[in-house]
Amino acid sequence: MPNRNHTGAIALITGAAKLAGVIGWPVAHSRSPRLHGAWLARHGIDGAYVPLAVHPADLAAAVRGLATCGFAGVNVTVPHKEAVMALCDTLAPSAQAAGAVNTLVFRDGLIEGRNTDGAGFIASLAAAGVALKGDALLLGAGGAARAIAASLLAQGMAVTLTNRTRARADALAAVLPGVCVADWETRDVALKNANILVNTTTLGMAGDAALPVSLDHARADLVVADIVYVPRLTPLLVAAQARGLPIVPGLGMLLHQAVAGFAAWFGVTPVVDANLVAIVGSDIPER
Ligand code: ATR
Repeated sequence: MPNRNHTGAIALITGAAKLAGVIGWPVAHSRSPRLHGAWLARHGIDGAYVPLAVHPADLAAAVRGLATCGFAGVNVTVPHKEAVMALCDTLAPSAQAAGAVNTLVFRDGLIEGRNTDGAGFIASLAAAGVALKGDALLLGAGGAARAIAASLLAQGMAVTLTNRTRARADALAAVLPGVCVADWETRDVALKNANILVNTTTLGMAGDAALPVSLDHARADLVVADIVYVPRLTPLLVAAQARGLPIVPGLGMLLHQAVAGFAAWFGVTPVVDANLVAIVGSDIPER
């Protein structure tokens, strides 16, 4: 049986194919192979993007081995995003600001670490027509919150962070000057002045009906963004829609963060459009 890609076309690669992939543990859940595969097919590129299950104990050997094998680079996902920093010869400002790497570029014998999560989030807001000004309230203080907070600050927005575990929010504010911290218990009130709300917690993931915050105090023009993308419409986004508030679903960030890596590895800057959303989102429940 020939190897057919999602469009039904036969995927052929030559001995000169460019190679990239995603390293994670586990990695089978990753949607990146489908995403990059769709772009490779669309652009008719002689290349492949493959899932790479790498145990944490094997990270250094795997990364160096991939570079040795001629890979153009890889994406890095859970649990390697922080550990892989020590293996990089250079760290882009985006990786330093985020304190994590999600994209490696192998070039001229060097390993460069970048982080495209924050820029991907900003691009997803811009694509939705959201004005990047005023106050942002971020729920959560994990790795994604840090990358997003750094990017919103870089856009000139005021950023307030609130997290169930206050110490994690304080630790994040300590490395991102300018970030304010609000107690988790006061988050509903802290929302009052926000122009943009961003959920970076895991609340609202498939099967979890919990709302991370009440929208009762929200401004009438609050933009509600969620980085959870399974389901595509989290209970928070559904609640926002019911109030007539503009929403930015998390799938946009996933797609937009991938653009820079693809461009670096395969030499073509791909676009995020409705067709891509349909391909990558096809197996993700709406609610
Ligand atoms: P990532 O690095 O991918 O952003 P993470 O580090 O696992 O993810 O962070 C998950 C976030 O969801 C954290 O802010 C976490 O809060 P704590 O720091 O208090 O653990 C938040 N989170 C997870 N479950 C939560 C819950 N039931 N209520 C509130 N916040 C929750």
